[in-house]
Amino acid sequence: MPKTILITGSTDGIGLETSRMLVSLGHRVLLHGRDQTKLDKVAEALAATPDGGQTESYLADLSRFSEVEELAKAVTAKHDKLDVLINNAGVYRTAEIITEIGLDVRFAVNAIAPFLLTQRLLPLLGKSGRVINLSSAAQSPVDPDALTGKVRLSDGVAYAQSKLAITMWSLSMAHSLKDDGPAIIAVNPGSMLGSKMVKEAYGVTGGDIRIGAEILTRAALSDEFAAASGEYFDNDSGQFRPPHPDALDSRKSGEIMHIIETVLVNESQSDI
Ligand SMILES: NC(=O)c1ccc[n+]([C@@H]2O[C@H](COP(=O)([O-])OP(=O)(O)OC[C@H]3O[C@@H](n4cnc5c(N)ncnc54)[C@H](OP(=O)(O)O)[C@@H]3O)[C@@H](O)[C@H]2O)c1
Repeated sequence: MPKTILITGSTDGIGLETSRMLVSLGHRVLLHGRDQTKLDKVAEALAATPDGGQTESYLADLSRFSEVEELAKAVTAKHDKLDVLINNAGVYRTAEIITEIGLDVRFAVNAIAPFLLTQRLLPLLGKSGRVINLSSAAQSPVDPDALTGKVRLSDGVAYAQSKLAITMWSLSMAHSLKDDGPAIIAVNPGSMLGSKMVKEAYGVTGGDIRIGAEILTRAALSDEFAAASGEYFDNDSGQFRPPHPDALDSRKSGEIMHIIETVLVNESQSDI
């Protein structure tokens, strides 16, 4: 049976390659991008896949939480069931470091937007769905003041903290939902895979991005991952591994979840 799979950041890199793989396997892929022209080109290219699954396109800048809300509403308007959400979109280096509401864009796009999107899509995902969250080998303890935009960090430190933040809420949400929600798994897709991000961040060509796309495809479809809610898969070693110790600390993870929820509540109240 074809599955319905939403992949954020499917206009480039690992997300684009994963979309290609899933479409070629006949699944319906909900493509997401922030640039309409890029999104249209990807949709057109994937439509030419022999015996490929259908695609739909969704536009949203994930650094703006109102657009994350609109994305969730647009998906909900067209679907009553979502099999898989892959929170893949991510940013390391960019010209616009501070979002409209004063957050570091790495925390906004890599950790907070996926939290909001996941929360909004829980009803569609139900108990049988799954959420694959893009983590990284680069993870550093999260400074709450950096998460709320009070402290500025270097690109590398902000990125690594945002990746531990998404890993922490992934495990924490999985444990609090237990069997009442989708499986939630954090995945490091492999390090230094040759995407735009790696070229811009490190100035190197990097490895084969299909390594990342293959593990995301497996994470989206295999029974092995369905039974791994609350776990961390490290594709550098090719196995489920214990996560960063902070992700196993329920007090610290609870604090990070609470800060993210507070940021989102404050943002929504400022819109009123
Ligand atoms: N490559 C690696 O070695 C590696 C290692 C560990 C983890 N990861 C993670 O893997 C994921 C994919 O990264 P990648 O290496 O494939 O990077 P990439 O080629 O730069 O792709 C990133 C994707 O995210 C989208 N994106 C960025 N900012 C966005 C925003 N504000 N709103 C909406 N979409 C946005 C990009 O859109 P545009 O196409 O418009 O730029 C692009 O589609 C990221 O979460 C990254 O942290 C990658």
